[in-house]
Amino acid sequence: MTVTRPPTSRLAGILPDAERVVAEHLLVQIEELKAERNAVVLAHNYMTPDIFHGAADFTGDSLALAYQAARTDAEVIVMGGVHFMAETAKIVSPEKTVLIPDTEAGCSLAESITGADVRLLKERYPGVPVVTYVNTSAEVKAESDICCTSSNARQVVESLREDRVIFLPDRYLGQWVASQTDKDLILWEGSCEVHERFTGAELRDYRTGRPGLQIIAHPECPSDVLKEADYVGSTAGMIDWVEANKPASVVLVTECSMSDNVAVEHPEVEFVRPCNLCPHMQRISLRGILESLRTMRHAVTVDAAVADGARASVEQMLAVGRRPVPA
Ligand code: 13P
Ligand code: SF4
Repeated sequence: MTVTRPPTSRLAGILPDAERVVAEHLLVQIEELKAERNAVVLAHNYMTPDIFHGAADFTGDSLALAYQAARTDAEVIVMGGVHFMAETAKIVSPEKTVLIPDTEAGCSLAESITGADVRLLKERYPGVPVVTYVNTSAEVKAESDICCTSSNARQVVESLREDRVIFLPDRYLGQWVASQTDKDLILWEGSCEVHERFTGAELRDYRTGRPGLQIIAHPECPSDVLKEADYVGSTAGMIDWVEANKPASVVLVTECSMSDNVAVEHPEVEFVRPCNLCPHMQRISLRGILESLRTMRHAVTVDAAVADGARASVEQMLAVGRRPVPA
């Protein structure tokens, strides 16, 4: 999604007045520096509303953000998201400077596996293709045959000739795909520390006393959670689902900043908000973005050969499925 409103009107009605005044003061400085540096700010759907609705030029999932930024003539990209997302933006736009405001903004899923792990798996299962979720480092993508997102994982797996597939690194997304295909999936023990905290029992409790509550869940959640869901999809898929269905009440079973962001666009929908925050996403702040633009820190680098390998895996996926942003 592209954001066009001026900085001083973007947060009206979204933040309490006292917080809004502080945020707007920062936003004015961010806009000045964006113009000076020829920069764009990207915000993943899990950024807090001050960043998502205030600072961002583009919002969305990691792949859509990377491709949106690539299409601009900006020389600098500031990633409102975690490290693997900044790497993806750099892989897609190697000529641009990609900054991440906090180098500690990691990801439990991306960190569960290394390039060396993938090489060992390929030795152990020769000839078995490797499908890798985009929530991984560039090094892991480079060792893979093809990437997938949480929306196209099944389609990517089914596009392969082989009956056996190595699927990395999220075991829950892997189990979800395995339940929908006849392919034999070899899984890895990775997981997202945010989504794995949800339980099916917790969701059944939410339904109690709320007839008609719609439960929509991210496929990084455990199987008992997905069994309770009325819809399962990526962050972008969940946003589209709310827009298309406009439910009277809904619970988005994912990082909770996303409900805050989507609720702004849908005042008619009641959002039940269990709050599991991602500690890595939360490291990114408006002040951090401002500081990043001011000091031009921290530039993300990806070795050229690794970037080529990772880009090949991403492009292989794009050849199978829908492009992340319309042409
Ligand atoms: P998507 O936005 O691709 O669905 O990924 C969710 C997530 O956990 C990102 O960190
Ligand atoms: Fe990683 Fe999960 Fe946080 Fe996304 S929400 S960055 S997958 S730990």
